[in-house]
Amino acid sequence: MSRPKNQNYKGHGLSKGKEREQRASIRFKTTLMNTLMDVLRHRPGWVEVKDEGDWDFYWCDVSWLRENFDHTYMDEHMRISHFRNHYELTRKNYMVKNLKRFRKQLEREAGKLEAAKCDFFPKTFEMPCEYHLFVEEFRKNPGITWIMKPVARSQGKGIFLFRRLKDIMDWRKGTAGKKLTSSEAQPARSAVNPPGGHDARSSDDQKDEIPVENYVAQRYIENPYLIGGRKFDLRVYVLVMSYIPLRAWLYRDGFARFSNTRFTLSSIDDQYVHLTNVAVQKTSPDYHPKKGCKWMIQRFRQYLASKHGPEAVETLFSDMDNIFIRSLQSVQKVIISDKHCFELYGYDILIDQDLKPWLLEVNASPSLTASSQEDYELKTCLLEDTLHVVDMEARLTGREKRVGGFDLMWNDGPVSREEGAPDLSGMGNFVTNTHLGCVNDRKKQLRQLFRSLQSQKKASS
Ligand SMILES: Nc1ncnc2c1ncn2[C@@H]1O[C@H](COP(=O)(O)OP(=O)(O)O)[C@@H](O)[C@H]1O
Ligand SMILES: [Mg+2]
Repeated sequence: MSRPKNQNYKGHGLSKGKEREQRASIRFKTTLMNTLMDVLRHRPGWVEVKDEGDWDFYWCDVSWLRENFDHTYMDEHMRISHFRNHYELTRKNYMVKNLKRFRKQLEREAGKLEAAKCDFFPKTFEMPCEYHLFVEEFRKNPGITWIMKPVARSQGKGIFLFRRLKDIMDWRKGTAGKKLTSSEAQPARSAVNPPGGHDARSSDDQKDEIPVENYVAQRYIENPYLIGGRKFDLRVYVLVMSYIPLRAWLYRDGFARFSNTRFTLSSIDDQYVHLTNVAVQKTSPDYHPKKGCKWMIQRFRQYLASKHGPEAVETLFSDMDNIFIRSLQSVQKVIISDKHCFELYGYDILIDQDLKPWLLEVNASPSLTASSQEDYELKTCLLEDTLHVVDMEARLTGREKRVGGFDLMWNDGPVSREEGAPDLSGMGNFVTNTHLGCVNDRKKQLRQLFRSLQSQKKASS
C-alpha cells in the first residue's frame, strides 16, 4: 500500500495509553549488530523480532527506509529511527543547499544580522553542477586550500585536499580519491536515485554510494584549534522527535576525535593529518587501540575553560547550540514530519583557532560501534536515553525537560533552563536548557524521574 507524503495513518482508534497497556511487550527489530543490539536486547519488556515479523519499534538503516517506508503501514504507536527524507540534512550537498536557502530567507525576513547567524558552514560548492561558480571563487582566493568530499560517502572515504585547479581536472577525469584515500576508495555502487526526490544515503556513518559521484568542494579550515599540536573535531548527538513543531534534544556527552599526527599545512596529501575520522585514524601506524584517539567532551570543555576562561567556553558552546538549531530549522519545512519517525543525528563540528565552531556535516545514523570501553559506555547510555525519550513504554508526561543525558533544547521555541520559567526567549536572563560537556549524572536523574512518574501515576489512579 503506498501512502501519501506528509500524511499520517491513524491507528485503530485506541488511545495511546490504552493501546500500550494491552501490549505485554515491545517488539523491536534492527539490522545493526553493535551497541544498539546490546541495548535493545537488555531493555526490560522488549523482545526481538526477525525477518518479516510484526514490530513496534524498528531501528532501520536508511536503505530499508528508502525501499520500504512508502509501502509500510504503521499503527499509531509504531516508531522508526529515521525521517523519510532525512538526507535533506544528512547529505553534504543538500545540507548546504538548505542552509543557503534558509540564510536567504532570514535575510529577507529578519535582516542581515539574523542571517549572519547562519554563517557557520565553510564556503561550499556542489560539483560538478556549480563548477563554474567554484572556479570563480577559487580564482578570487589564490593559494588557499580546498577539500573535495563525495556527497554521500562517509568515514573520510574519497576525500582529498587540493590547491590547484589541475587536481580537480584529475578528479573530473575520474581519478578522484587517489590522493588521500587510494586504499579505501571503493567503486561506486550502481544504485538508481529514487524518482521525484533527493537520493538517500545509508546509516552508521556509512552512506550509500551513488553512480555519478557528486562531490562538494569546500573551503578547508586551515586554522583548526590544536591540542598537543593535533587537529580534532567534535561529535555531538542531537535527537529530533518532531519537525513540526520542532522538538529537539541535545545529549550531554560527545567526544573529540583527534588525528594521530601533528597538524601541518605542508603535506596536504596526508590523511592522518587532515581527516579526524576514527575509521581513518585507526589505520594509522601510530594508533594505540588502548589509548584510542578520543577525548570525552567534558574533558575538552574543561581543557578550554582552563586555557581561555569560562566565558569563552560559554560563548563557544552557545555558538554550537546555534548551529544545531539553525541547521534543523533550515530543513524544518522540507523534512516530511511524520510522528512515527525520530532521528538521532551525529553532528561533526570543527573548531578553529578563534574558537569559532564550523559545521562540517550531519550524520543520519552516527556510528554506534564502540572503539573503547569508555566509548562503549557512552554509546550504550546514549541509546538507552534515546529509548527513554522515544518512550515506547508511555511513561513520560511529555512535559519533561530532561531525560537521562538528554536536555530538551528546543520545543517549538527555545527552552529555558530554569524550572517553571516560560519556554519563550525573552530578553532578560534567559538561559537555554543545554548542557553539552557538563556533568552527566544521568543515572541519578533517571532514578528520580521514574520514581516521581510512578508516584504521580499512583496518586492519579
Ligand atoms: N572544511 C573542512 N575543513 C577542515 N577539515 C575538514 C573539512 N571538511 C572535512 N574535514 C575533515 O575531514 C573529516 C571528514 O569530513 P566529513 O565532512 O565529516 O566527511 P565524512 O562523511 O567522510 O566523515 C572531518 O572529520 C574533518 O576532520
Ligand atoms: Mg564525518
